[in-house]
Amino acid sequence: MRVRTHTCGELRRRHIGETVTLNGWVQRRRDHGSVLFIDIRDRQGLTQIVFNAETMPHAHKVGEKLGSEDVIAVTGVVGQRPEGANNPNLATGDIEVLVQHLDILNEAKTPPFMIEDDAEVTDTLRLKYRYLDLRRPKMQRLLELRHRASAVVRAFLNEQHFLEVETPMLTKSTPEGARDYLVPSRVNPGMFFALPQSPQLFKQILMVAGTDRYYQIARCFRDEDLRFDRQPEFTQIDIEMSFVDREQIMSLMERMISVVFKETAGIDLAPPFPRMTYADAIGRYGSDKPDLRFNMPLHDLNDFAAKSDFKVFKETVAKAGMVKAIVVKGGATIPRSRIDTLGETAKGFGAKGLAWVKVIGDGQLESVIAKFLDARRLLAAVPDAAIGDLLLFVADKPSVVHDVLGRLRLLLAEELNLIDRSLWRPLWVIDFPLLDYDHEAKRYVAMHHPFTAPLDDDLPLFESDPVKVRAKAYDMVLNGNEIGGGSIRIHRREIQSKVFDLLGISKDEAAAKFGFLLEALEYGAPPHGGIAFGLDRLIMLLGGAGSIRDVIAFPKTQKAQCLMTEAPSPVEAAQLKELHIKVDAVE
Ligand code: AMO
Ligand code: AMP
Repeated sequence: MRVRTHTCGELRRRHIGETVTLNGWVQRRRDHGSVLFIDIRDRQGLTQIVFNAETMPHAHKVGEKLGSEDVIAVTGVVGQRPEGANNPNLATGDIEVLVQHLDILNEAKTPPFMIEDDAEVTDTLRLKYRYLDLRRPKMQRLLELRHRASAVVRAFLNEQHFLEVETPMLTKSTPEGARDYLVPSRVNPGMFFALPQSPQLFKQILMVAGTDRYYQIARCFRDEDLRFDRQPEFTQIDIEMSFVDREQIMSLMERMISVVFKETAGIDLAPPFPRMTYADAIGRYGSDKPDLRFNMPLHDLNDFAAKSDFKVFKETVAKAGMVKAIVVKGGATIPRSRIDTLGETAKGFGAKGLAWVKVIGDGQLESVIAKFLDARRLLAAVPDAAIGDLLLFVADKPSVVHDVLGRLRLLLAEELNLIDRSLWRPLWVIDFPLLDYDHEAKRYVAMHHPFTAPLDDDLPLFESDPVKVRAKAYDMVLNGNEIGGGSIRIHRREIQSKVFDLLGISKDEAAAKFGFLLEALEYGAPPHGGIAFGLDRLIMLLGGAGSIRDVIAFPKTQKAQCLMTEAPSPVEAAQLKELHIKVDAVE
């Protein structure tokens, strides 16, 4: 085979007159009779090659047979494109290669879709023919971005004296709260490994082992309901450090993420990032991952509501509920029909209703409930509101009010185009509650995981009001996405026991599940803490990809299937027998 002298993205004016060889795929052909133009493509770009029937009849003859995606080697002379034929959108757009020799290295079947960024193609086809999908320049750029981001992370952490350590894939169940993927053990009949939901337990053990600073770009497995930003198999930048406090971890990590954004995309995140308590995030934005690219905060209207004549508001406040509202700037022009469908959406989110008020003049409200409300008092309670605005209210228990208004806030921002897509608004959300109360199961559950340390000031609340105990936990949030989360860990046995007690984890259960960690903690565990970033989510944001699937080379569908390999699939009866497994008939 004639080996390339240059890539297809490399040739410029300065190469004019040189004889070169290019290898690549046939992107496109334009046949002008005696002159045939073909674009040849590789990962680095496209180059126009020209076959001339008069000067090089043999090459032209072979060239005429070429079809899309055939793999070729061409040798020829770099020439300047004729006046007016330059393509300023192409890096190689000033030149073309006048072909003297053509070898067809491999013929391709006609691909099921065009290898172009804006090709019309279904997700199913893209995933089935992933190798063709990945040939598209946009996908190659995302793979490259992911590679560069990982390289920057490694360089940053290496510089900071972190050690990269691998932890097992075949392990025990870890406490991140999703379902495990299980792997049967042939040599231990009836026993199973779990694939790690994260390296959490091992990285803490590494701290006990004196590793001091650990990182791993680690694969994690979680059998949970999938969404646009979740995959069953995903990658974390996983980190743990000894002898540090929360502030040190946060400041090092915001520097790391800033360096990644700067070096891979030229984006300035300008650390330090603002810190917002969980209580403020929920109270003001109705979310623990607030999107700060636009404002539209939630306004607390309890005082106003308690003194209003609208029964729903008054009674909700009297029953220890709350009333909050968001202001839609200029929303008075939104037609009644749209407001009604918003009300249905709010009900879908769990609200009992969505009260609304249009401010149509000085002290003048338009609404079915206007007669119950004192306009002056309302406008005094919501200083943001002005003539021409629409106010949307939810009265309910706090969790419903925050969730519904938080979701409406996002939906309206999208619909009304309030989000400036050029902005990057990172922040830390801190002081998460340690525990959440699961009303269905009637028990406390860990908000992060059961090894998260409580705030020292809140220790007395363990006895009196456990849900008020805050954790030394932190999430990094960017443009409304949770990109990472971590905490300072409990390193003392008596506090760990207290947390297990509250979580209803018995001594036996704790010993069976993570006895090895608890034992390790008794052999001189240093104070430690860490964090894990979702690498896929980070790349999705950095690369402006619409889905986490676009930044994973071989992702799975919503149903956790790989359409290319057709995994998961049934296995031979003999294999099951060897594993001592009987399968219940599946419908
Ligand atoms: P956590 O469970 O918050 O913490 O996960 C850390 C980060 O991983 C990403 N992530 C996911 N990305 C894609 N698909 C998924 N299914 C998925 N699940 C999580 C998110 C999230 O912020 N061991 C702890 C970390 C620690 O305490 O140090 C942990 O795993 O971006
Ligand atoms: P009603 O008195 O039931 O006709 O409701 C009057 C308005 O208040 C309607 O627009 C309802 O959607 C709204 N509404 C009812 N319950 C609530 C609630 N809990 N929170 C906010 N608005 C509500």
